[in-house]
Amino acid sequence: MIERFGDDRDWFFEKRFGLFVHWGLYAIPAWHEQIQQIKVIPREEYEPYAKEFNPTNFDPDAWIDLAIETGMGYICLTTKHHDGFCLFDTAETDYNIMNSPYGKDLIKELADACHKRDFPLCFYYSVADWHNINYPNEGRHHELLVQPNDEPDILKYTEYVRAQIRELCTNYGKVSCIWWDMNVPEHIDKSVNDMIRELQPAAVINDRGFDPGDFGTPERDYDQATRNARSFDRLTEACQSLGSKSWGYKTDDDYYGIEHIKRSMDSFMSKGANYLLNVGPMADGTIPQVQVDMLKEIGTWFNGVKESYIGTDPVSEKTHNQDILLTENGNSLYVHLYKMPSESSLSLMPINTLPAKAVLLNDGRELPCRVDVLPKIFEPYLQVYDLPIEQYAGDVMVLRLDFPDGIPG
Ligand code: GLC
Repeated sequence: MIERFGDDRDWFFEKRFGLFVHWGLYAIPAWHEQIQQIKVIPREEYEPYAKEFNPTNFDPDAWIDLAIETGMGYICLTTKHHDGFCLFDTAETDYNIMNSPYGKDLIKELADACHKRDFPLCFYYSVADWHNINYPNEGRHHELLVQPNDEPDILKYTEYVRAQIRELCTNYGKVSCIWWDMNVPEHIDKSVNDMIRELQPAAVINDRGFDPGDFGTPERDYDQATRNARSFDRLTEACQSLGSKSWGYKTDDDYYGIEHIKRSMDSFMSKGANYLLNVGPMADGTIPQVQVDMLKEIGTWFNGVKESYIGTDPVSEKTHNQDILLTENGNSLYVHLYKMPSESSLSLMPINTLPAKAVLLNDGRELPCRVDVLPKIFEPYLQVYDLPIEQYAGDVMVLRLDFPDGIPG
């Protein structure tokens, strides 16, 4: 079991599901958040998007409403992505929102909306930077090729980062997470996170910055070993985008199937991980309807089964059945059918105690259970019968088994 922090960072254990938002100038060309690097667009062609960015339909309350409706408990926005454009008012560069036609501090607007509702606010910040001349762009992954007039200096650049993180941790009230990305130079400097901890004691910090931070960040389903593990040995927050090709808004993006997202969520969350699910708003600030609809559908499922994640502990070691994962809370044992079930019964081997009740959380129906000896399995084990596998093909079923005398095993 993963130890809690025992301090204000423990909010992270309560709010298990968050909204990730990738948003910036790249919403204008609407192809990929890394379009500048992937399509080798010269700075002088990309940077003028800052003179166009004018998200007059940005409505932070609507974003938070959508997150809450989906069952999410926090939001994490890209304050600065790899392109280096800052969505916040900063004294450290002119390349920021105040010098766009919008001319208002977006981060301040979001922060005010979050604090009004006590909704945890998290800041994504990219170390890789395609605008700052001191960032050592060397053509490594997530970097531009060497730029002729740059003055690469990682120490000077780290001071820039430190000053901006200080602004983010000072000017926007409570910050619940600093979500680093892409420390490509692998520069280690523990003092940066130390500063965050001093300024924002409730902030959890991820592992992509200047030291290992508080939690790991497996991305999409790239790392099958992580996805297939039956437990995690460090605090984890998986991140995933609705768009299969891009995190930022892309016209005609291919979207993941809802079933894929639900299975991914369940496979991480039932092992104790948090899940950060990403949308890419359009340049005017609107979250595209297709993404809103997807979140609503995911939320309908999640809100039905969320008691199996929130406040529970992962206990998959209590069964030998590799097709299911288990969580528990008090006298309730939750069974997660994170893989597509191949049959309508399931075995909780080696558990051989009958629960008082087995409930399918998806619709509240009770399912029959017996402690049975089955052909070729000579010991009696708990079996649950009549799973509605046809009805829920394409969905993720979660059951609650109530053991009033305590969960066996
Ligand atoms: C990857 C992408 C980056 C995105 C991040 C989110 O690192 O390169 O664009 O912001 O994932 O986890």
